[in-house]
Amino acid sequence: MTSIPFTPELDVHPEVVAFFDAPTNTISYVVKDPDSNACAVVDSVMDIDYAAGRITYDGADKIIAYIEDNKLDLQWLIETHVHADHLSAAPYIQGKLGGKLGIGENIKIVQETFGKVFNEGTEFQRDGSQFDRLFTDGDSYKIGGLTVRVMHTPGHTPACMTHVVGDAAFVGDTLFMPDGGSARADFPGGDARTLYQSIQRVLALPGETRLFMCHDYGPNGRDIQWETTVADEIEHNIHVGKGTDEDSFVAMREARDATLAMPKLIIPSLQINMRGGKLPPKDEDGKSYLKVPVNGL
Ligand SMILES: [Fe+2]
Repeated sequence: MTSIPFTPELDVHPEVVAFFDAPTNTISYVVKDPDSNACAVVDSVMDIDYAAGRITYDGADKIIAYIEDNKLDLQWLIETHVHADHLSAAPYIQGKLGGKLGIGENIKIVQETFGKVFNEGTEFQRDGSQFDRLFTDGDSYKIGGLTVRVMHTPGHTPACMTHVVGDAAFVGDTLFMPDGGSARADFPGGDARTLYQSIQRVLALPGETRLFMCHDYGPNGRDIQWETTVADEIEHNIHVGKGTDEDSFVAMREARDATLAMPKLIIPSLQINMRGGKLPPKDEDGKSYLKVPVNGL
């Protein structure tokens, strides 16, 4: 499992611009082909005031303005996984700028799991058809002249994929910055041992590969950061660095996960993100509603 299903192109340097969403500590990216106007958006965020049931698009509008101001051609909207802590703005951005929406093929497993949790009816398709493309391990796609390679890196969720383009890799929640360690592996379908093996795959990329995180929480009061390298993670990651073995990682991860509360936005996030970022179908009054499964998570 630690093998990489392609040859990394370290002499290719995609341009990466980050957008930090402070309420959810999420980092979204615009990834641009240096030789054309083609770009992709990775892990965009739709704003929600959950207490008020209000959805807005301030963060997504900043990304849209950046793409328009720089006259970029948006070709892909990528979700590294089904996020449980923020809502995706991919359909909103797609509606304004076009592009194809892609996620890992195991979205079907996630849809099956959470379709049950939220007692969805038959109108909720569990076949990934809300997305334009479902990626498999070793798959590739183009952003202009750039070739992006996709590696299946499950463990945090079954559908997690790492997207590798030139010397850059978008790891989703497979890894955090070295002083943040790794993401939890206790959501339904998550598994600490699987996560360890996926992390080893990411760490098997060349040492100089630039790694871009989906989240950062600024541990120990440091400023927010989102970029590191494979070599830095191998040397310094507090959960998997310096050759941490699988059993030690699993023991640490499972003990830690047992202490973590559910993410504040997990209930709206899953219901919307399992639909590719779309709201549930409207009721007969023309409004969309979110459910709260009592003792269901
Ligand atoms: Fe996540």
